[in-house]
Amino acid sequence: SLTLRPRVPRSRAVSRVVVAQAGSGSYKVAILGAAGGIGQPLSLLAKMSPLVSALHLYDIANVEPVTADLSHCNTPAQVAGFTGKDALAGCLSGADVVVIPAGVPRKPGMTRDDLFSVNAGIVRDLVAAVADHAPGALVHVISNPVNSTVPIAAEVLKQKGAYDPRRLFGVTTLGVVRANAFVAARKGLPVAEVDVPVVGGHAAATILPLLSKARPKAAFTDEEVEELTARIRDAGTEVVEAKAGAGSATLSMAYAAARFLEASLRGLDGHDDVYECTYVQSQVVPELPFFACRVKLGRDGVEEVLGSELRGLTDYEARELEDLKPKLKASIDKGIAYVQQNQ
Ligand code: NAD
Ligand code: LMR
Repeated sequence: SLTLRPRVPRSRAVSRVVVAQAGSGSYKVAILGAAGGIGQPLSLLAKMSPLVSALHLYDIANVEPVTADLSHCNTPAQVAGFTGKDALAGCLSGADVVVIPAGVPRKPGMTRDDLFSVNAGIVRDLVAAVADHAPGALVHVISNPVNSTVPIAAEVLKQKGAYDPRRLFGVTTLGVVRANAFVAARKGLPVAEVDVPVVGGHAAATILPLLSKARPKAAFTDEEVEELTARIRDAGTEVVEAKAGAGSATLSMAYAAARFLEASLRGLDGHDDVYECTYVQSQVVPELPFFACRVKLGRDGVEEVLGSELRGLTDYEARELEDLKPKLKASIDKGIAYVQQNQ
């Protein structure tokens, strides 16, 4: 099986006395944008999950070959392909989790916000279909700019009377995956043991890795903190430049999305040890209605927004948190305004 298990913060793991009985449930997962650069490897990883019994693949193009190819893997998930707007209802019906990597990726020189004009409408329309056909599903938004597309999704769900903040997530796991990889390499630590909380949002300076809260505890010089923080923030651009016009991160993103999917499914399945950083509605930072921080995942999605990693920040982290607030707020407001003005 996949080794994508989320790590348990140690303090929590030892403080639990009663462990809920976890089932070995099987879940229906729909991927919208499944034939794309992220969609294809993500679909493969989802097909490998023992928790997935049905895998529905939707895209506006190229779904048939991807479905035929994947369906030959001898794992339990039954794969079905759907294409064209009329097929969305069938794709979504009964889905437990809907993952959305549909939309255009960056080219060199672009910011994630430059994708807003195209991706905002794509996410709005797909989430409207989710509200109609899978109103109880967990929704994982990957399409950029995540800082705005998640508020867009929330507004659409609200308009449809189908909004449950516990069930809507911006996937920011790639920031955590990168932070873990870069810190392990810099400090010579076993990578599987490293866990760095990454909070804020998912664009440039709104991405805030909390190196002072990294596990295992490691000492960083001020220079190391600045260098690592910059590298984690710019990692998406690193890949965009390496791909030189052919898109952005796909393989590492599929890996990160699969880790977050597996975590969500384990939460649905009743496991009591599932924690991930993700961009959700919260009051952890009162002026920011959406914020990425560590949450506990459970049978209904977000069981608890922790945010305890925000206590006792270093001066550098506290300054960076202040600095990101107006930037993230502007992206949130832009998403909300988009839906309100385009009804
Ligand atoms: P891609 O162009 O390779 O694939 C996108 C897919 O979406 C295509 O197959 C396309 O046909 C499909 N699509 C477009 N409009 C659609 C619609 N209305 N309905 C269904 N499918 C539709 O792009 P990619 O590299 O897979 O990236 C997808 C998105 O993910 C981009 O917006 C990118 O910026 C974002 N992304 C986010 C993260 C993150 O950390 N959250 C990381 C990497 C990429
Ligand atoms: C990433 O972090 O790799 C993604 O958000 C894609 C991008 O545009 O950088």
